[in-house]
Order: sequence, then C-alpha cells, then structure tokens
Amino acid sequence: MELNQIRDKFKSLYGTEGVVYSSPGRINLIGEHTDYNGGFVLPGAIDKAMYCEIKPNGTDKVRAYALDLGESAEFGLEENDLPAKQWAKYIFGVCREMIKRGAKIPGFDTVFAGDVPLGAGMSSSAALESCFGFAINDQFGLGFDLFEIAKIGQATEHNYVGVMCGIMDQFASCFGKEGSLIRLDCRSLEYQYVPFNPEGYRLVLVNTCVSHNLAEGAYNKRRLSCEAVAHAIKKRHPEVELLRDANLDMLREVANEVSAEDYIRAEFVIEEIQRLLDACAALEKGDYETVGKKMYETHIGLSRKYEVSCDELDFLNDLARRCGVTGSRVMGGGFGGCTINLVKNELYDEFIKRANTDYEQKFGIKPKVYDVIIKDGARKL
Ligand code: GLA
Repeated sequence: MELNQIRDKFKSLYGTEGVVYSSPGRINLIGEHTDYNGGFVLPGAIDKAMYCEIKPNGTDKVRAYALDLGESAEFGLEENDLPAKQWAKYIFGVCREMIKRGAKIPGFDTVFAGDVPLGAGMSSSAALESCFGFAINDQFGLGFDLFEIAKIGQATEHNYVGVMCGIMDQFASCFGKEGSLIRLDCRSLEYQYVPFNPEGYRLVLVNTCVSHNLAEGAYNKRRLSCEAVAHAIKKRHPEVELLRDANLDMLREVANEVSAEDYIRAEFVIEEIQRLLDACAALEKGDYETVGKKMYETHIGLSRKYEVSCDELDFLNDLARRCGVTGSRVMGGGFGGCTINLVKNELYDEFIKRANTDYEQKFGIKPKVYDVIIKDGARKL
C-alpha cells in the first residue's frame, strides 16, 4: 500500500519517522469556470488523495522526495531559492506564501506520493498544495485556519505555477466532508454542505486519458476575457465587480464594446452561475432528471461557448446521451481529463461497457473509469 511505501522510503532516506498527512482531489457536480468570477460551485472531495510524511530536520533546507517519480530536490526557503523541478515548486510556493503571511518555517524532510490521477481534472495539484499547507501548518503550529490554507494553495498556483485559478479546488480539498457536496459562494467563501446520496443513481467519472497541453495559457486567457467583460459592464453599472454581479441584459448592453469572443465566454459564465442555482434547487427536491439536464447544458456551453472541451470529451458526452445517461459533462478546467456522469443504476453496466469499447475503438486509447466516493478533506493520519 502506498502509505507503507511512503513510511519505508522516509525511514530509509532520513533514518527516522515523521508524521503523515493527506488531502484529497475533488469532483465538481456543476458550476464550472464560475469560481474566479465570484460565482458558485458544487464540488466534493474524493477518495483519491496526496499523502506526505514530514519532519523538521534541524537545518534551513527542505529535502523532498517524490515517490511516484523517484526524484528528489533540496532547496532553501528564500524567494530566490525557487527549485527547478515542477513538483518542488508546489512545496516551495506553499512555504513562501506562508512566510509572506508572517510564518517562520524551519527546514524539513518529506516524502510524498498520491493516487489522484494527474491531468484528469481531479485537482492533483490542489491536493498537493493543501496536503503540504495542512501538514506544514500543523507541524510548526503556524495557526492558519482552513480558509487561509486554501488561499495559500491558490496563491501558490498564481505566483509559483502560473495558473490564475479560482478557489474551488483548494477549498474542496481542505473542506471536503464524507457524503456531502459543498455549495460554495466563491466570493464570500460562505458554504453549505449538501448531503449527496442520489438513490437509484451512481456518479462515475470517465477519463479520456488525454490532456491537451494548451490548458494553462488557455485557462488564463478565459479568465482575462471574463475580467474584460466585467470591466466593460462596470462602466455602466458600477456595482458590477465580477461576472457574478452581471446578468444577460447587462451583457447585451456592452455587446459592441467587447470582442465577440469575450462576449460569448461571459455569456457562458452568467448562464452557468444560474444553472448551478437551478441544479441546487432541483437537488433539494431530489429531482435528478433536472440536475442531469443542467449537466448536459453545461457541457454544451463549455464545448461551444467557453471552448474548453475536445473531441475525446465530446465523444464521451455524446455516448452518454445515446446510452440514456441522466447527466454528463466535462469536469474541471477542460481540454482533456474526465467527464462526470450521473447514471441510473440499471444503465451503469451498459454505459461503462460502451464507454470502454467505443472510446477505444475511436481513439485507440483505453479510458479509465472511477466511481465517485465522496470523502473528508485534509487531515492528519
Ligand atoms: C480548474 C481551476 C479551478 C476552476 C476550474 C474550472 O480546476 O483550478 O479554480 O476554475 O478549473 O471550474
């Protein structure tokens, strides 16, 4: 088991034992690309996580070992000590963001590993940030609360990875609760746990196993489009800070002042925020047919308006529809990764069989299938 491998490696590398922490990846039922627009999201933490063992080492250096890659890195914690390896930047970034907020962090040894699939839209990087944020905070008694740990992870993406992400992934990784989704207002960070146990249905991810590499630049570009439109609307409606505050009428007013591309991106976001609210209302009534319908609408929007889908994802979405799956859509940032599917129990076997065979036949790659199990967020083991 992975955990034992971490412990064995830690012992053999550093000759001692540390403390182990974990923080999970996430799914998101609906509400995509709404977080950085101050809107709502509906994520949940899953049973796949990043794990790290950690112990102070009496120096001012971090010695880290990435078990899944078989790679090590050693670095200091001054701003100009930025390590070269991508995975090490996450650990360094988390430490730096804590230091910027007044923390004192001594050197430590660590080994980490995880089973959150990379590039699958399940937020492996947020899981890593939250895992180290939670671990370092606890180890050194830094006193950050979970909100701040989530923000530290997000700031790490912004300042050390270059992805201008919203708060959804890190929040879900930190605040996840077994059996519940989190209805999060990404502006105020107010949240409610929404118990999610859809009787008669299963929630399943189908991984295209492709991740198209335009992702980061394209993601930041989407965000800039949204900001440009919010800015244009604000000139007429000073109360509008983010697209969350805008409606479609306001958008139409600025049609001639923004590019056609920015317009259509903003239209998606404004519609998506409303779709999430509609889906939440339907969930409360146990109306999964409506939830599913909204998921399909989200997919169409993400594919045609926001343009973050790809052939592989569209194919799986189409297949779900043809199999009679209740709801299906691309999940997360896009450009590859998974579709999330709400499937009636009796259709499950047939859908999974066809997803496997038809997808492989078309693209020559075997997809991966994960049943979603909603678990707790960051913790000490
Ligand atoms: C990525 C980002 C999130 C969010 C989603 C899209 O996962 O990290 O902040 O914007 O994409 O909903």
